[in-house]
Formats: sequence, C-alpha cells, structure tokens
Amino acid sequence: METVKNTEIFPADRVEEAARRIREGGLVAFPTETVYGLGCDGTDPAAVAAVYAAKGRPADNPLILHIADREMLESVALEITGKARALAEAFWPGPLTLVFRRHPSVPDAVTGGLDSVAVRMPDHPLARALIRAVRRPLAAPSANRSGQPSPTRPEHVLEDLGGRIDGILWGGPCRVGVESTILDVRGLDPCVLRPGGVPLEEIEKITGPLRRDPCVRGAEAPARPQAPGMKYRHYAPQVPLRLWEDDPEALAGFLPEEAARDPRARIGVLCSRELAVRLGPLVPGTVSHLEVCGSRARPEEMARALYGCLRSLDGQGLSVVYVETIPETGMGLAVMNRLRKAAGGGRETEGT
Ligand code: TXA
Ligand code: MG
Repeated sequence: METVKNTEIFPADRVEEAARRIREGGLVAFPTETVYGLGCDGTDPAAVAAVYAAKGRPADNPLILHIADREMLESVALEITGKARALAEAFWPGPLTLVFRRHPSVPDAVTGGLDSVAVRMPDHPLARALIRAVRRPLAAPSANRSGQPSPTRPEHVLEDLGGRIDGILWGGPCRVGVESTILDVRGLDPCVLRPGGVPLEEIEKITGPLRRDPCVRGAEAPARPQAPGMKYRHYAPQVPLRLWEDDPEALAGFLPEEAARDPRARIGVLCSRELAVRLGPLVPGTVSHLEVCGSRARPEEMARALYGCLRSLDGQGLSVVYVETIPETGMGLAVMNRLRKAAGGGRETEGT
C-alpha cells in the first residue's frame, strides 16, 4: 500500500523550513514565474527517484535543474559557449531553460541517463530564496500528476499531489502560466526544443534565426524527440478538444449546426473574451459551457489563464470542447503548442 504523507503548507515566511525538508531528502513544491515545480535536492538520486514516483512520471523523461547563481551553473554543466552565456545574461533569471553537456557530478536519475542536462534560473522571489537556502540545485518537474495540466496555483498542486509530497511553499498564482522555453545550446547552432515563457522572437534578437524541433508547433513527436517529454500527451483534460483552425467568427455559425446533428451532445467552448462575446447568445441552448481564457489581443494573458481553464473543463459533463486558435507568434506559439498537445498531439498517453 502507498503511504500517505502529511503535506505541510509552508507560507512565504517559512522558506527555511521548506529548505530543511528538501535537504533531508523531502519533496516540496514551490512557485516559479512559469508554473509550480516539485522540488528536491538535485544531487540526491533517492530524492529524485521519489519525485518520479510521486508524479507517476516515466523514468526516461529527465528533469530540469533549478539554480540561483552562476556558480551553480558551473557545477552542473560543461562546455558553456559564448552564445549560451549571452542568453543566460539576457534572460536569467527568467523562463528560459538551457540544455548543456552534463557535468559528471549530476546524478543519472536527473537526466534519465542522457549526457546532457537542462538548467534554468527561475525568476520568482520564493524560488530563488528556496534554492539559496538549500544551497544546491533543485531538480524540479512541474508539480502536477502526470497527465494533468501544469499547476499555476498552489491549490492545483494540493489537488494533484496532496498526500504524496512533503510540502508546498505557498505563493500566489504564477505570472507566466506556461512552462519555460527550452533551448539546446550545445554546439554553435542552438535549437528550440519547447516554446514557452520567453518568445522565440526575443531570443532570435540575440542568436539570429533558431532551428526548431518539429515538436515546437505541437506536431506529433518522433519516437525519440530531442526533449524526451515532448513525446508524451501533455496537459490533457479528459474531455476531447477540437481545435477550430478556421476564422473564429465562423464558429458562431458552425455550432448550432453541430448541435442540431447531435442534440444530446454537451458542447463546450474554450475561447478568448472577444469570441465569448459573440458566442454568449448560444448559451445555454447550443453551448453548455463557455470557458473564457483572456484576451485574443494579449496572448500573454491567455498563457497565464490557460492551465486553469483546461483544469476547469473537466467536471462540466461535456462531450466535446471546441477551442479557438490564435496566431503562433510571441506567446501565441507556446499557447498553441500546449493546446495542440492537449488535443492529442503526442504519441503516448501519459503526460508529465
Ligand atoms: O517552466 C518550467 O520549465 C517548469 C518549472 C517548474 O521550472 N518545469 C517544467 O519541467 O516544465 P517538466 O519536467 O514538466 O518539463 C521539462 C522538460 C521535459 O519535456 C523534458 O523532457 C525536458 O524538459 N528536458 C529535461 N532535461 C532535458 C535534457 N537534458 N535534454 C532535453 N530535454 C530535457
Ligand atoms: Mg511538466
């Protein structure tokens, strides 16, 4: 039988206690600017194994090491190029993860046996205080149960992992709302493995045009993608999602036809405030539930709201949800990548 843990809530003024729990081998979730992470001592293979067990995460999907200063970077990564240093200078602390050659001191458990390591310096006062207090890099995946959307509020963490982890460092909602951008910076030609909190256009101002892994747009991943996590079906609610790739306005014409075809279907829509205004008159006759996810004019607002919206879609008794799509520029690229994955782009059914 699985043991049920007492998940302690640490308010912001008890960072030291949360750090002590981590130094003793415990698992403590903490806020970052992107999403909540499930942190453990990244130098302790047993603690790292416990993170995989708590999440139900496949062992071949490596973890990101979270650091608080440049010295920690030197202790986990090798062959740090000038371009990588320039990127760290420009975007750290912040929602950018860089993949380096792995330092021999990094445990196999962290990297899934790869010879690379993913590193990020988060920009959230509590995350930085926690890492400083532990005085070691924290290995931390997003603090959701495998297959759930990442947690953007501490309540989401409690829902998913309460009773399975030692504590939650309780911060507010996350500012960015989607995970970090991941760049492989080994060699001279950086490659984007996952779009995220730093728009690629910003990075390209420094690097010039970037190579993009096919997963970036949310395409079906190859069996062995560059970022192993991209092959899993992420962020997926139980209810099927259908992306509406057409003109958003045309959805208002389509939905009544669809409802007429199957009068018993309970139709939901996930959309911007702008489209919600157009669809409002269809509720509750044609549309059973309207989930409003920020303004179309501000994709960063949609990113912040996205995972909370995906979480609330389940439990509405819907048979299908139509999802508005937005242009894949700026933060829109990360939003659409997550939506494509939630709609089923990915080979295997377990997420991370
Ligand atoms: O914003 C974020 O990145 C959040 C917060 C908590 O920092 N973390 C996060 O972790 O999203 P996780 O574990 O949910 O996703 C990490 C991704 C996975 O897709 C994994 O495959 C990839 O990073 N990754 C980790 N190490 C890698 C490596 N050495 N090479 C390539 N991809 C790697
Ligand atoms: Mg994750």
